[in-house]
Amino acid sequence: MNITNDILYIGVNDHETDLFEGQYIIPNGIAYNAYLIMDEKIAIMDTVDMKKCDDFLNNLEAALNGKTPDYVVVHHVEPDHASSLKVLLDKYPTLQVVTSSGAKNVLPLYHDIDLSNAIIVKEGSELNLGKHTLKFIAAPMVHWPEVVMSYDICDKVLFSADAFGKFGALDVEEDWDCEARRYYFNIVGKFGVQVQNVLKKAATLDIQTICPLHGPILSETIPHVLKQYNTWSSYGVETEGVYIAYVSMHGNTAKVAEKMKEILLEKGCPKVAFTDIAREDPAEALEDAFRYGKVILAAPTYNMGVMPLMADFLHHLSLKNYQNKTIGLIENGSWAPAAAKTMKAALAEMKNITIVEPVVTVKGALKDSYTDALNALADAILK
Ligand code: FEO
Repeated sequence: MNITNDILYIGVNDHETDLFEGQYIIPNGIAYNAYLIMDEKIAIMDTVDMKKCDDFLNNLEAALNGKTPDYVVVHHVEPDHASSLKVLLDKYPTLQVVTSSGAKNVLPLYHDIDLSNAIIVKEGSELNLGKHTLKFIAAPMVHWPEVVMSYDICDKVLFSADAFGKFGALDVEEDWDCEARRYYFNIVGKFGVQVQNVLKKAATLDIQTICPLHGPILSETIPHVLKQYNTWSSYGVETEGVYIAYVSMHGNTAKVAEKMKEILLEKGCPKVAFTDIAREDPAEALEDAFRYGKVILAAPTYNMGVMPLMADFLHHLSLKNYQNKTIGLIENGSWAPAAAKTMKAALAEMKNITIVEPVVTVKGALKDSYTDALNALADAILK
């Protein structure tokens, strides 16, 4: 596949891996993207996960059409992109690695390779290939410390490493936003400040094409994609409405959460997203918690605290630098309700979280007597 006259796609789809990074479900697979720039000097832009190395080498060989590559640019050392590097270097022994100093230190942890000949690049470094010149952009923590991006001045192409990528193989048609958002918040979500820094650098470039390491090559949708990244990395509100995340032991807290949803919709809330965090994809729940500015958490009391699944959810949000939210709390507890207090304590550790009153306490099953309190919470969160 040609991206421009001289830039070719040599990446691969993976439909076999069950969990990306050993934890995220990927029902539509994942793509490990790699590219080839054919010029006086030939540059391979990243490799792929070792599981798909044979397919990658076949794609590379076909694209090279008998020529010998000069450089392999390693933008990011994580094994989903760099674990085929040693095989590649064994196959093309004259190939010169181009990478950051951080990557040069980390690559030997994964590979028995000699990097004494590597070209080390940093912010502003250039690599001339003939007609094409790559200009390097440091992108630390997007999403590992060593990451660099590169911009091809000739074709106005940004090789963006993990940024702007998504779950999903390229042979599956699906919306960019949904799986890009799930990818972003779960993998890069903690590093909003660093993503903002990269977006500022990107704003100075005329970018016609983005070639990420996962997901589709982007062109017409670049303004939308940049806008989404700006909202996500600034922890802004993407969608107006309320997100309800709940756990329920015997179905009573679930009924309260459903009642809350009904009341919010009756009051004109534009959208209510709703997740049973025990049964739905935790990565999707995390994504929704970031997507909305207003969130209601509902959980039973358990062992004098909150049900562990909710505690885990809050811990996971905290790890991703969760912030800037208005949150309502619903607790259930037959003897001594303590879920709200425990949730409040977890939320107090996060930045710019406003807890709205009243906190609704339910004891056991949903009854009409709780309707006033649920209405009051709905009014307060919608205000
Ligand atoms: Fe796709 Fe951070 O590796």
